[in-house]
Amino acid sequence: MAYPGKLFSLALPFLFFFLSSASTITYNVQKFGAKPDGKTDSTKAFLSAWAAACASVKSATIYVPRGRYLLGAASFWGNTCKNNAIKISIDGTLVAPSNYRTIGYAGNWLKFERVNGVTISGGTLDGQGISLWNCKASKSNCPGGATTLAFYNSNNIVISKLTSLNSQMFHVMLYGCQNAKLQGMKISASATSPNTDGIHISGSSGVTILGSNIATGDDCISIGPGASNLWIENVSCGPGHGISIGSLGWDMQEPGVQNVTVKTVTFRDTQNGLRIKTWARPSNGFVKRVLFQNAVMLNVRYPIIIDQSYCPTKNNCPNQGSGVKISDVTYQQIHGTSSSQVAIAIGCSNDSPCSGIRLQDVNLRYMNQPAQASCSNVAGTSSGFVQPKGCL
Ligand SMILES: *[C@@H]1O[C@H](CO)[C@@H](O)[C@H](O)[C@H]1NC(C)=O
Ligand SMILES: *[C@@H]1O[C@H](CO)[C@@H](O)[C@H](O)[C@H]1NC(C)=O
Repeated sequence: MAYPGKLFSLALPFLFFFLSSASTITYNVQKFGAKPDGKTDSTKAFLSAWAAACASVKSATIYVPRGRYLLGAASFWGNTCKNNAIKISIDGTLVAPSNYRTIGYAGNWLKFERVNGVTISGGTLDGQGISLWNCKASKSNCPGGATTLAFYNSNNIVISKLTSLNSQMFHVMLYGCQNAKLQGMKISASATSPNTDGIHISGSSGVTILGSNIATGDDCISIGPGASNLWIENVSCGPGHGISIGSLGWDMQEPGVQNVTVKTVTFRDTQNGLRIKTWARPSNGFVKRVLFQNAVMLNVRYPIIIDQSYCPTKNNCPNQGSGVKISDVTYQQIHGTSSSQVAIAIGCSNDSPCSGIRLQDVNLRYMNQPAQASCSNVAGTSSGFVQPKGCL
């Protein structure tokens, strides 16, 4: 009577092997006509591979072999997909058209909308944005540019070990998403490239960004209205404008930002380190429960900054009081050097002062001299060693 059980236990590993290998189907984009020559338009082939993976009732892998694949603007829709486990495994490089106008008005280059359970793993996305940046630097009638990789209204997303180069606009954007993990990202664009934010998150919850390296011309990570439950750890930023919550408070009715942890980050030669910025206009927006912990600042212009009268162009600034209420923000173990004398610049709103701002173990120097702190409309506490002093 022991036999059936024994047989079963012997057969079980084989059964699992059989089931797991049989339950994923691989779709190679080359089988759908994609050409790794960098000049044949492979957009249709990628969309066909997506349609096949999406129609599969089993989990599916879309495989992109080595080589360069030219893609125009492409939208990958998930609302009719029959499975919620599609992996896009990339060994090659996806290249945007060299003429920036081809995707420059599309808003996004590679857009995923209403997908559930999509993993993108490996590979390089080359946005070829340099000619658009040059256009913007010299003319006024240039297209706005496309975000390289955007997810809208999507859930359960993983992006790992992906490289994004020279995006026209933002590199990666999440809007209206739940539960996303981005890991081992490498993002790179020139320090002077306009609006090339590394990762932009808004209206999204449960987003984790780990172990990533971001060098760009705007914010390394920007966090917009309605972002909550974010965890950012082990990120190096620079060049760039730092890790920013904002800009917030342009709209009167605006969802707030809450529960954000930014931990173990390094900023090198950036314009800002840890920044919160809001427009000086009435708004019911807010920022609360933010922990900035263990940051190294290397030659950063404003390592710790709250700017509630943000207006980068200094043109037609609203010049009212910001309505965005900022509370419960902790800066813990923030060390290093600033490249301007004011290393802590906390300028809160007259109409809606900041509260619960905590500085704990902060040591910032201005080259080899003491730095300064400047604060307005702020309540909170300092504890442990805090230099520069004088704010809280
Ligand atoms: C805050 O966000 C973290 C993820 O970063 C999450 O684990 C935690 O549950 C959130 N806390 C609350 C109270 O929602
Ligand atoms: C952060 O990086 C350190 C050193 O590379 C590593 O030991 C640690 O596991 C990383 N943590 C996370 C959450 O990625």
